[in-house]
Amino acid sequence: MTEKLVLVTGACGEIGQALIQALARRGGYQIVTSDLAPLPDSIKAMSTEHVQGDLVYKVKNFYDYGFDVIFHLAASLSSKAEVASEEAHRINVEGTMQLLMLAAYRSEKYQKSVRFLFPSSIAAYGMPGLDVKKTAGAVKEDVYNMPQTMYGCNKLYCEKLGMYYSKFFGQKHLDEEPPCMLDFRSIRFPGLISAFTLPSSGTSDYGPEMLHAAAQGKPYTCFVREDAKISFMAMPDAIKSLLMLLDVPREKLNHQVYNITAFALTAGEFRDRALKAFPGAQINFQPNPRRQGIVDSWPEDVDDSLARTEWNWKPDYDADAFFDDYFLPEIRKRYGR
Ligand code: SER
Repeated sequence: MTEKLVLVTGACGEIGQALIQALARRGGYQIVTSDLAPLPDSIKAMSTEHVQGDLVYKVKNFYDYGFDVIFHLAASLSSKAEVASEEAHRINVEGTMQLLMLAAYRSEKYQKSVRFLFPSSIAAYGMPGLDVKKTAGAVKEDVYNMPQTMYGCNKLYCEKLGMYYSKFFGQKHLDEEPPCMLDFRSIRFPGLISAFTLPSSGTSDYGPEMLHAAAQGKPYTCFVREDAKISFMAMPDAIKSLLMLLDVPREKLNHQVYNITAFALTAGEFRDRALKAFPGAQINFQPNPRRQGIVDSWPEDVDDSLARTEWNWKPDYDADAFFDDYFLPEIRKRYGR
């Protein structure tokens, strides 16, 4: 069997590391990676080539590669993107644009559609106020698309760019025999929590930071209010969703952007569960107005019925299973507590 050639950008990030391990376990893939940083030892042997550096300038390295699949994970996350907004725009938008152009070019040249998997985010939403956030319930993909962060604007726009390059690029769909276009598929992720890695520079980071700190017996000051609520997901479910969406035949998909979710908890509920697992954990709340504002602009929960209907999405870990079957057993092994 010939191996599929896969590019994973942002390979050193949390999703990147877990995805590369999952692709290597699955087998059948030759994995090329790219990131600003060198690959960590845990995934080094799984990559046949690592291109280190700024993607915007490195994309040209990839023009001779016949990628079957691109997972474009590289991004500047929401908290960092608010303080370095021009840099975030360059990384998040220009990097994506360069890679979409490459994938569109290759799809057309070789008449073989490149599958382009793009993680979008709950940051693509912008709730107009706390009262609306609290009453809106689980929101569908096409409502409240008024992001209030640079990162959210970037993600929403790149969803649109992906749709453009996969359907309308050069308006070639008007030709009698339309050329093969790239196959863009995007998932709007909630906050993700891994037992093996910690996030940095995002805003949903308070969830994983609090839990890892409690598991290590370290005090934690949470930067959002106790009642701050968004949806979260175990990292293995995020990886499962990417691989599921990768596998779905194109004709089964009626959309290109899908919400997924697993459980929605408040920061106070995270604290309560952390205390139950690690009695004596020291967790207090000192909301940071800027980061609180970001979380207040994200919906409490999202409606993932499109993904459930079109590609049978279902998370393995609801809140109880997340703690009991994934996070706590793994984290106890990791920190020996
Ligand atoms: N986890 C991301 C962040 O907090 C949201 O997609 O920036």
